Amino acid sequence: MSAARSVTAVAHANIALAKYWGKADTAANMPAVPSLSLTLAALRSTTTVSADPALDADEVTLDGAVATGRARERVVRLLDELRALARSTVRLCVRSHNDFPTAAGLASSASGFAALALAGAHALGTPLAPAKLSAVARRASASAARSLFGGFVVLRLGADAAEPVLDAAAWPLAMVIAVTASGPKSVSSTDGMGHTRATSPYYPAWVAAAPALFDEVERAVRERDLEKLGAASEQSALMMHASMLAARPALVYLSPVTLRAMERVRALRSAGTPAFYTMDAGPHVKVLCEAAAAEGVAEALRSLEGVERVLVSGIGPAAQLVEAGS
Ligand code: PMV
Repeated sequence: MSAARSVTAVAHANIALAKYWGKADTAANMPAVPSLSLTLAALRSTTTVSADPALDADEVTLDGAVATGRARERVVRLLDELRALARSTVRLCVRSHNDFPTAAGLASSASGFAALALAGAHALGTPLAPAKLSAVARRASASAARSLFGGFVVLRLGADAAEPVLDAAAWPLAMVIAVTASGPKSVSSTDGMGHTRATSPYYPAWVAAAPALFDEVERAVRERDLEKLGAASEQSALMMHASMLAARPALVYLSPVTLRAMERVRALRSAGTPAFYTMDAGPHVKVLCEAAAAEGVAEALRSLEGVERVLVSGIGPAAQLVEAGS
């Protein structure tokens, strides 16, 4: 190969409705529970990978800044796996950009690693099937396995890769994201999961209860029953947070603003708008509702004290290549 081959991929973030929290196998990055997510159209990572024989080390730039330490290592580890599959030793130049605020603690690793797996495989001249790419992305970040696919996506217990269960076009739902101003400094999900597993007496209860809740969430998606989906997904989020709250010391991602937003969602529901909250490893509140109700839900959240901004997203597509050159 003489010239650098440059490939760009786009992948969308996803929000879990049946949560993943806890690893069954840390080395293999295998989740202890099954999960189901919704891919979001409005939150995208764009990643360009160039295979350059002139480089003697990988170069990684994330949102304009050169990555170092753990962030760089996670990217290089994924590239090493792709190089092994491609039987190549060529070094790669990676530039990745998120079109949503990474600092706000929204799920940027999922879309970032999904786009990296897709662009990296093509840059190495080894286009892999989506399931194979999903497995590669899972080893970097389990939620990233789900961002290879669009619509509603599952990562089953013990599965190497995620799989789509319902197309984006099949059910026009929306997610309204309230970015909350304050909140504790975020503990990474890997550290948080390890700490919960090691110290929370509620962790075994969470792992035992999660599969049945996942089944309920998956059934509600297949039946397109928003009330059932919302009720089960709220319980999944709350049970996950209960396991964290019982850790020692407690892992508290929720802030007073989070609780106010949850209360507002309950009030919307009492007033007749089906809307359901979920929270991840941060204080932000993501609200699932019908696409037609999204603007009203966004307005109700915007007026809350402590809500910094509100994003509205429809359901997003699978990760895609946007450019392939040589
Ligand atoms: O895949 P990770 O390490 O980014 O962990 C994701 C954990 C949650 O976002 C809290 C839940 C989930 O299923 O996405």
